[in-house]
Amino acid sequence: MEKLVSLCRRRGFIFPSSEIYGGLSSCWDYGPLGVELKKNIKQAWWRAVVQQRADMVGLDASIIMHPRVWEASGHLESFTDPLVECKNCHQRWKADDLTENKCPSCGGELTDERQFNMMFKTFMGPVEEAANVVYLRPETAQGMFVNFQNVVNTTRKRLPFGIAQIGKSFRNEITTGNFIFRSREFEQMEIEYFVKPGTDGEWFDYWLEARLNWYTKLGIKQENLKLREHGKEELSHYSRRTVDINYLFPMGWAELEGIANRGEFDLAQHSKHSGKSLEYHDNDTNENYLPYIIEPSAGVDRSTLAFLCDAYDEETVVGELRVLFHFDPALAPYKISVLPLSKKENLTALAKDIHTELCQHWMVEFDITQSIGRRYRRQDEIGTPFCVTVDFDSLEDNQVTIRERDTMNQIRVPIAELKNTLQAKLAGEDLFVLPPGGKIWKVEKESAT
Ligand code: GAP
Repeated sequence: MEKLVSLCRRRGFIFPSSEIYGGLSSCWDYGPLGVELKKNIKQAWWRAVVQQRADMVGLDASIIMHPRVWEASGHLESFTDPLVECKNCHQRWKADDLTENKCPSCGGELTDERQFNMMFKTFMGPVEEAANVVYLRPETAQGMFVNFQNVVNTTRKRLPFGIAQIGKSFRNEITTGNFIFRSREFEQMEIEYFVKPGTDGEWFDYWLEARLNWYTKLGIKQENLKLREHGKEELSHYSRRTVDINYLFPMGWAELEGIANRGEFDLAQHSKHSGKSLEYHDNDTNENYLPYIIEPSAGVDRSTLAFLCDAYDEETVVGELRVLFHFDPALAPYKISVLPLSKKENLTALAKDIHTELCQHWMVEFDITQSIGRRYRRQDEIGTPFCVTVDFDSLEDNQVTIRERDTMNQIRVPIAELKNTLQAKLAGEDLFVLPPGGKIWKVEKESAT
């Protein structure tokens, strides 16, 4: 984990928040590369669960909701952790995390447990009084439940169908840590899938498989994923069944995503507390009922950490360490880097023209400093799948080389074929499938110097 944290900091994936003030505990800022990686993860999720499906629609609900939402959802009462305080140093601890009945920091005596609500509280408007208390949402889910009827009425979707949402959630976690794994401000990608009661079991299995496949299709190794069924005693207050998709993070197996069968709990609660019926009229059977909800709930930051961990690799090439991220091209922050072999003006002018053309289609870097070997390694270290090298021959033959990150193999292709060739390679075509006029250029591993 330390290696990853340091690489992420050094190369501009993730910085400690407010770093010049000493950082803010458990808050992180995504830098120029991190913001691209995170955006690509969210886009891949949205494409898979909204764009490519006729039975899903999206939503972007506000973070601050009516305070009664949290009464109805059970969060005011049940979204708590048992907390103890050291009578000597006054540090607070999550009771569940302690193995001994003394302060892990100073060995002092601990108070009895008390329940600590993890929602962030603030005030709406200028007067700080009880009537104006609002909460930052601890999950995006409630925005989808309270908009269920709005979505049915405006989209005319029939069961089974789902709503998807990506957005920030906030939890005043007692213990945070392990980099971006657990923080107090984080992003979720949640699906609420509404089904006819009685069909919930099969839809649960369906979504479990669909979500597992999403991770492996984007490169997470099968052996680093496993399922964990929640025991009856640990189920959340709303859940009939929960299975976690766990990932083998550097600190051990831990939850990446949870799939829950929330039954009719949420729609029933919001009907009761709002006084508005959230029943669904089934035209096929002419019945009214509350749909059951299957909820695949993933963390954007945890997914980002899992994709970083899984893609990280080190190997020795020509006696030197090569560090690289094997990101799937869909997730890589930059897809291509354009590298003129030297800083000579005629070469950089041609390289800049190529960059200008390619960046109409993808995130493309342009790097001009250091030896070509060092520049290849810099791109490997940020997971760029392809480098395009412009050399002196390019000025004569109008051809450039494409160098593949994972194999370091190179082909040479006419500039006129470059865009289409890169498009095919980014979509997974073998490097040695050549465009008209192309040739295999280099198959030996290159040195960094
Ligand atoms: N609506 C259901 C729900 O929120 P959850 O298991 O509490 O369920 C779902 O959270 C996902 O959100 C988790 O699997 C995790 O990926 C992410 N998540 C939860 N708390 C987090 C935190 N403090 N920091 C980062 N990610 C978190």
